[in-house]
Amino acid sequence: MEDSTQLIADVREQMLYLQELGVELTSAVFEAETRNERREAGVTRQETRAEMPEQVMSVIPKSTPTLLSERPAGSLRESMPSLKGRLEPRRIAPPVAEVVPLPPEPQITETVKAETPQIIEMPEPTETIEQIRAEIGHDCTRCKLSTLGRKQVVNSVGNFDAELMFVGEAPGADEDEKGEPFVGRAGQLLTDIIEKGLGIPRKDVFIGNINRCRPPGNRAPEQDESIVCKPFLQREIAVVRPRVIVVLGATAAQNLLETKVPIGKLRGHFHDYRGTKVMPTFHPAYLLRDPHKKREVWEDMKMVRDLLAKN
Ligand code: URA
Repeated sequence: MEDSTQLIADVREQMLYLQELGVELTSAVFEAETRNERREAGVTRQETRAEMPEQVMSVIPKSTPTLLSERPAGSLRESMPSLKGRLEPRRIAPPVAEVVPLPPEPQITETVKAETPQIIEMPEPTETIEQIRAEIGHDCTRCKLSTLGRKQVVNSVGNFDAELMFVGEAPGADEDEKGEPFVGRAGQLLTDIIEKGLGIPRKDVFIGNINRCRPPGNRAPEQDESIVCKPFLQREIAVVRPRVIVVLGATAAQNLLETKVPIGKLRGHFHDYRGTKVMPTFHPAYLLRDPHKKREVWEDMKMVRDLLAKN
């Protein structure tokens, strides 16, 4: 701060010096300031040449400058007050070594760790689907959904050795009633997609949800609910090791792929989940509301079918 004040003072001084030599200044601001200073110093407009425009007047020397060589020694300093200080030996304070504190070392917090992209490999299966289910238990109380009216835990179904897996967000009323994923109207449409579209019997694929308990009012599962339930599905994926996972709807897709990208942008191409191909597509419940979207789902399913057809 002190340095910059000194610099400004030096510049001002040099400009005054130039001004006194008759050099035209370029800064209107400076000219205005110079005028003010002159006014304060008692220099009136009458002392300037009246016919000159004001901006010019402020920088014209009051008297015609003589050449330096023609001036008596020492007169320069007298006639140019601004130069006086320049000619006097200046006591320059030795530079004070400024102590700039080093920024604190970044702390590795949980948040930083979570945001650091890392390649997570699919773990080798060391357990069975039955063991995972036994650990979940019939009356899981790990999240608040257990207190919000769910009837039962709805576990995944299908072939534990499937090449193709479907993942939804959470059971609805029908699934909560029957204890099986995708058995309501949306479930029937999904079965058609699997059997009529892909030509695979439903029992040959594996079907699960990010959350195993029904959220009240068919709302989407909340983050604190998914955080405790999703790991069980991830462990099942590691056991089944499907070649392709189809994720149904924005909530499930964003949750599994840990992204906020909208489903309309995610669908239509494969993504990676720990080395496994993932195709996000629209949720069958959405297709019931907007059947025009079936065409896009079919495009996605053709890509899945073609990939599965490759060896
Ligand atoms: N919707 C889902 O996401 N999952 C189900 O099991 C049923 C409907």
